Parts: sequence; structure tokens; C-alpha cells
Amino acid sequence: MSSLQSAAPLQSRALARVKPSATIAVSAKARELAAAGRDVIGLGAGEPDFDTPDNIKAAAIQAIQDGHTKYTDADGMPALKKAIADKFARENGLTYAVNQIHVASGGKPVIYNALLATLNPGDEVIIPAPYWVSYPDMTLLAGGEPVFVTGEEVDGFKLRPEVLDAAITPRTKWLILNSPSNPTGAAYTRDELIALADVLRRHPHVWILTDDMYEHLVFDAFEYTTIAQVAPDLYDRTLTVNGVSKAYAMTGWRIGYAGGPKALIDLMRKVASQTTSNPSSISQYAAVEALNGTQAFLKPRNDAFQARRDLVVSMLNQATGIRCANPEGAFYVYPSVEGLIGKTAPDGTVITDDDVFTTALLEAEGVAVVQGSAFGLSPYFRVSYATSEAILEEACSRIQRFAASLR
Ligand SMILES: Cc1ncc(COP(=O)(O)O)c(C=O)c1O
Repeated sequence: MSSLQSAAPLQSRALARVKPSATIAVSAKARELAAAGRDVIGLGAGEPDFDTPDNIKAAAIQAIQDGHTKYTDADGMPALKKAIADKFARENGLTYAVNQIHVASGGKPVIYNALLATLNPGDEVIIPAPYWVSYPDMTLLAGGEPVFVTGEEVDGFKLRPEVLDAAITPRTKWLILNSPSNPTGAAYTRDELIALADVLRRHPHVWILTDDMYEHLVFDAFEYTTIAQVAPDLYDRTLTVNGVSKAYAMTGWRIGYAGGPKALIDLMRKVASQTTSNPSSISQYAAVEALNGTQAFLKPRNDAFQARRDLVVSMLNQATGIRCANPEGAFYVYPSVEGLIGKTAPDGTVITDDDVFTTALLEAEGVAVVQGSAFGLSPYFRVSYATSEAILEEACSRIQRFAASLR
């Protein structure tokens, strides 16, 4: 090896600040155990088990047959932007012109494009914990500094206005809101959003990125609202992010989108034009159908998710030492294992934290869940209940058995 190679690591300093996704790691570990012949139930992955509806598939097939297989505008084709603008008007009461819409290959790159377009070294991004695993690392990769503010279990893990106020500094560039939340399932009510908006109004230099990816997954007649809708005066500094991945069971198609002020959208297009170019043209045609076509399947799917949530919350609350809040939406619950810390498993493992708990649970019972430390709040774990009730019942029985085996 030359001295030049040994002096200069291959990995960039920017990437060295980033860690790989913990949720993807759990799914990989579960697959590895299953391949080795173990009976594993994976409750780690964040995607619906339902299939993409047939009308959406048909639109994609038609797009291929019609030859729509060429480049589109880097940040999405006009017909899709129009469908997205119509969706924002219809469902959120938000008016965005077509040139205020950005489309990318999933919600993840939409958020990354926004951060990359706007962050300078040292700029701060306020991230309420527990958070979706990618926000801190995307912030770091884009050169910014994550600033964590923690939601308490008693508040449904939601950010309190005074906690937000105390976290804002002159370096704050963005606040990231996510409702319903991955990993807790918590969703902000209209009044809770208004209270956060009251704080943000006093700090006009702070931009707001609201990640509404789970908008359609809310239960018990919860009234979904988003911040630019309830605080129209913040519209000029809010990026409203959404996508088809979760609501339409289209995780593999890779289409996410956002509406925001034109100046910001122009910068995001500049990033896309020199990085990914357009998301798949075929997926864009599918997304047009998802947004413009029938929405009839949403309700029965939501009913199924609500029944699953009820089952999981009830069974986990019957497990010794586990306490599980009942969230408003998404397809996650975020139970506490506080009551199990310090106990010993039959194989002698002492449960010192949620990392040990989730590893020991996987080893003993073959149930894969994600440790709360990955989402910035311990001692908890995340269960994704996007699978059948039969599988969930079996998984929760195993968790109950494991918890009862601890001494
Ligand atoms: C809160 C949240 N935002 C964004 C995304 C990214 O969605 P996509 O698959 O469209 O990139 C996810 C996916 O897990 C998510 O949970």
C-alpha cells in the first residue's frame, strides 16, 4: 500500500458522520436467521403488506405500452405535478401551483434534496425524538447538525411548544415534524399544531419540513391536519412532504413529493438535475393513477390496520413489564420495556437496555423488532404491525412468553 493510500481513508468525512439504517439492519438480520432455518417473525420493516392496487399497476403497464419510457423533467412530469397539486387542494386545503411541486424517487430523496439544497456547515436541524432513523443522518450528510428534542411518553411522544422554543437558536435552519410518526404512530391534533405554530411565528428564520407520509393512516376518526393548513402564515416557509409509498402500498415504486415555496422548490430541482434526474417515468404514471383514481381501497385497509393496532396494543399491555401507548396512526407502536430492565433471561443475559432486549428476544423467540435507541429514545422498541393478525397474534404471544421468562 502506498503512503498516500494509508494517509487518506477511502470514506469521505461527510459519509463517516453517517451510520447505516438500523431498521434495514434488523430486516437483514431476520432474513439471515430465517435463511439458516430459524422460524423468524419480522416486525421490523416499515412497509404495508398489502399489494399495490390493480388500477395503479394497470396504469404503469399502459405507460410502458404507450412508450412513456423516456426522461421526464428532473423533478417530475407536469401531469403528476398537477395530480399532486390537486391532491393538496382536495385533501389539505393547500394551494400549490405546479411550479411549487417537487417529485423524487421516494419521500427519502425529497427530504434529502431539501436539506442538501439549504444547509451550510453548522446549520442546525431540530429533530423531535423518537425520530425516523434517516433524519439525523440525512442532516449530517448534507453538512448540518441535528439538534434533538425529546417527546415524553405521557404526551404521546409529541413535541411540546416550550421544548421547541428552548431548542431554537440563531443557527436553526429547519424543524422537522412527522405526523403520524414513525416510530411512535403519534399524530398531532389541530390544536397541538397551532401551539407549535405559535412558537414558530416568533422565530421567522426557522423553516418547517413536515413529513406527512402516513397521512392516510389515522384511526378512530382522527382528523388529520398539516401545519401549513392550520397556520397559513407559515406557508411561505413550510415544505409539505408526502408520497405514495405507504398509503398506496407502493414502497418499491419510489415516488415521493413535496409542495413548498417556489424559491425552495427551484433549489431542490437544481439538486435533482445534477444527481438523480427524474424518478422512473413508469412509476410517475402509476402515481398519477394513485392520486387521481379511486380511493375506495383506503378505508378497508385502514380498518384492517386499526384492528391490528388494537390487537397489538392489547396483547403487549398484557406482557409482564411492557407498557404500550395507543397511537393515533401509522402502523407502528412504541412500547416501553422499562419494567424489564435489570432482569435476567433464562440463558443468563441481563437485560440492561433495549438493544439487549431486542437481541435477546430475537435469539430466544425469533421475533425481530427494532430497538428504541435507533430512534433516539430508550428503553423502548418499535413494532411494525403491517402484517396479518394471525402473525401478529403469534408474535405478541412470543413476546409475552419471553417477558414472562425474565427473572
Ligand atoms: C416518516 C417517513 N418518512 C419518509 C419515509 C420514506 O418514504 P419513501 O419510501 O417514499 O422514501 C419513510 C419510510 O419509511 C418514513 O417512515
